[in-house]
Amino acid sequence: MITSPEDLALQAEIRTLARERNAVILAHNYERPEVQDVADVVGDSLGLSREAARTTADVIVFCGVHFMAETAAILSPDKTVLLPDLAAGCSLADTMNADQLRAWKAEHPGAVVVSYVNTTAAVKAETDYCCTSGNAVEIVNSIPADREVLFGPDMFLGAHVRRMTGRTNMHVWMGECHVHAGISPESLDKMRLAHPGAELLVHPECGCSTSVLEGISAGAINDKDLHILSTEGMIRRPAETDAKEFIVATEVGILHRLRKANPDKTFFPADERASCQYMKVTTLAKVKRSLELMEHRITVPADVADRARLAIERMISIGGTPAMAPAFAMGE
Ligand code: 13P
Ligand code: SF4
Repeated sequence: MITSPEDLALQAEIRTLARERNAVILAHNYERPEVQDVADVVGDSLGLSREAARTTADVIVFCGVHFMAETAAILSPDKTVLLPDLAAGCSLADTMNADQLRAWKAEHPGAVVVSYVNTTAAVKAETDYCCTSGNAVEIVNSIPADREVLFGPDMFLGAHVRRMTGRTNMHVWMGECHVHAGISPESLDKMRLAHPGAELLVHPECGCSTSVLEGISAGAINDKDLHILSTEGMIRRPAETDAKEFIVATEVGILHRLRKANPDKTFFPADERASCQYMKVTTLAKVKRSLELMEHRITVPADVADRARLAIERMISIGGTPAMAPAFAMGE
């Protein structure tokens, strides 16, 4: 991708402001390419949470969505956490609120609650363990087998974890992300027919994740060609294989990093319409404005943060992606 002169100028201004403010810019793998390119660190939810916990910067500019900035604010209460646009929400986090979780817990006294990081701080405060797609299986495996588990809010990730752990005493909330749920078995099949030699990289939130595993059981898909991975796991995979073509079933923002890091390999989106409007609201102009005006500051009430912190700290200490992706670009 060629960066326009306007974007290059904005990126240079942002880097100057970041230095002046002693700010670190974190960007999720689904952000716009030009926003990824100005960040200090680009990564998945788990990697960015770990970075937010250990940074020595005074300010964290979170180019991601609201729950990610809240998580950073809980982990680093003494830092200023900024979200460039408050409209950066998450349809999956919206599927479960704290009252609903409390009611669910009341139906299963003694159950251990595992919540995906895509939840509000209030839901995390009712949670025993947070997880991301990068470590959900390890977290559930760490819970004694005789304890009931309540897993939410993503039903496709929940089904994946249940399959991988073989756990029968795990209840799954019926939430979904509209972007990943929309990546259907039909769109994946169409791409597989068009690119028969390609490896499949599938995010466990996808609506097609169950059907590809059924495809393996039925002998229609070779299991060595399928990898169910978090976004950071997808970034690592091309370097681990001789395969030259990949069908990528997740939000399309990840294609920028995959293509940039692997110019000799080809990446096809499983569904090119799989774009998250919440991730895309963050533009370079908004990142610059955020640093200039020090807005929009994300804070979490101390009583909620204190209850949520333990669940998040358990998440960042267990498994998943070992290292962060260093920033691209800007020649710093
Ligand atoms: P990961 O980057 O943790 O795989 O999460 C995907 C996602 O949908 C974040 O909103
Ligand atoms: Fe939420 Fe889905 Fe967007 Fe991720 S891709 S932020 S889960 S709506």
